Amino acid sequence: MRILHVAAEIYPLVKIGGLADVVAALPVALAARGLDTRVLVPGMPAVLNGVSDLKRVIRLGPAFGAAIITLRLGRLPDSGLLAYVIDAPFLFARDGNPYLGPDGRDWKDNHRRYALLGWIAAHLAAGELDRNWQPEVVHAHDWHAGLAPAYIAQNPALTTATLFTIHNLAFRGLFPLDHHNDLGLLISGTDQSALEFHGQLSFMKAALVHAKRVNTVSPTYAREICTPEFGWGLDGLLRDRGGHLSGILNGVDYSVWNPAADAALPRSYTADHLRGKKVCKLKLQSEMGFARRAKAPLFAVVSRLTSQKGMDLVLGALPALLAAGGQLVVVGSGEADIEAGFRAAAAAHPDAVSVHLGYDDALAHRVIAGADILLVPSRFEPCGLTQLYALRYGTLPLVRRVGGLADTVIDSTPDNLRAGTANGFVFDDAGSRALSARMADALTLYRDATAWLQVQRRGMVQDYSWDDSALRYEALYRSI
Ligand code: ADP
Ligand code: GLC
Repeated sequence: MRILHVAAEIYPLVKIGGLADVVAALPVALAARGLDTRVLVPGMPAVLNGVSDLKRVIRLGPAFGAAIITLRLGRLPDSGLLAYVIDAPFLFARDGNPYLGPDGRDWKDNHRRYALLGWIAAHLAAGELDRNWQPEVVHAHDWHAGLAPAYIAQNPALTTATLFTIHNLAFRGLFPLDHHNDLGLLISGTDQSALEFHGQLSFMKAALVHAKRVNTVSPTYAREICTPEFGWGLDGLLRDRGGHLSGILNGVDYSVWNPAADAALPRSYTADHLRGKKVCKLKLQSEMGFARRAKAPLFAVVSRLTSQKGMDLVLGALPALLAAGGQLVVVGSGEADIEAGFRAAAAAHPDAVSVHLGYDDALAHRVIAGADILLVPSRFEPCGLTQLYALRYGTLPLVRRVGGLADTVIDSTPDNLRAGTANGFVFDDAGSRALSARMADALTLYRDATAWLQVQRRGMVQDYSWDDSALRYEALYRSI
């Protein structure tokens, strides 16, 4: 079976969040199952530099405002998987964030940039671009690739199976309605309702309507998005898709996230030999300018600093954390007021709060390894990957009971502790009081070294590799 994954991000070349991790790892897991899997990504500078052996497949254009478009095929770093790269300098020769300009605003031509991504996918599916390879399944990720199923569906002669994965419904790919003139899609009569969302154009809606199947990245989020609370106005449409909407949990790439062989760490460790983790903690405390105290509970955040991630809750719970003798390391970037809040906290408590604004992959690894507790108090969380990384690193995740967090973190209740199933801490209310209360419970357990070790080990040996999820995706492809 020939599968084409279509996405805007791919680790380690272009990454804003977990989407990049998934797009790098899932195709490899599918290839390991014997599926003929390729990816299609926009040719941002980092991609053109990072994909090796790039060869020209076809030259086309002008289209979407680009005079020259060259489709190239090369090999991804590490996995060696084949990747199509859209080399369209007019649209993609821009460094940094794939969606935002240097002023922090969306690029004004994003509708054209990502329409081109979907359009190339559709024409690869039609067999027009590469004489040697034609996908049977086009698997599109998030709104950036959302027009791929729409372009394919608008050609009645194409039988390509399409799957659309929602990684985050909050980003609906909204544009002024008149931008549809640039897209070459039918948008009149009944077709209009397939693309139009409250007077705007939505790439996300286009995908939800046109893809043969839709899935999201955890079973709980698949249920949540069918409700008004989590549906961003698209819940009715998602309810209508009924059995064609499902949830498949993301996996972890343990070749990237493994404390036994992680080049970013000062010392490696395993579930049976946790000495190395103590070294990681002490080194992290030194690096952050904290007192090197093995017994001081070290909390961490590695996250986009946004209200989705409940970062205001962390700021609200900070006094309680500090009063309990805790330390906090934050790695992330995001909304200005939240960044300012953390910056102020670090300035007020330099010996216990350290904040690193920006993206730093190696630091993220050191922090997840060195911390005792990772805070993920999200308001909504389609899957969440950092709690899964924390589990493997013996760092207990403390999370809110939503989406993929609810599916992966088992609360340390007395019953679960007795049963040996607990792997972290879970709370319900989206408020800092509820977070503080659960943090206090976590600290009670922390003082019981034997009980703590049992929960740590439970998480470290759990298997969240891609094998099981890849099997489910393969079954989904076969069903269409
Ligand atoms: P989301 O995709 O919603 O941001 P996930 O938990 O799925 O959330 O994925 C986040 C990914 O981004 C993880 O791989 C995490 O380690 C990484 N990450 C987040 N912020 C940073 C940062 N500031 N520096 C390095 N890595 C980060
Ligand atoms: C999104 C979600 C996150 C998920 C990631 C990968 O960015 O916010 O929960 O883990 O995609 O699927």
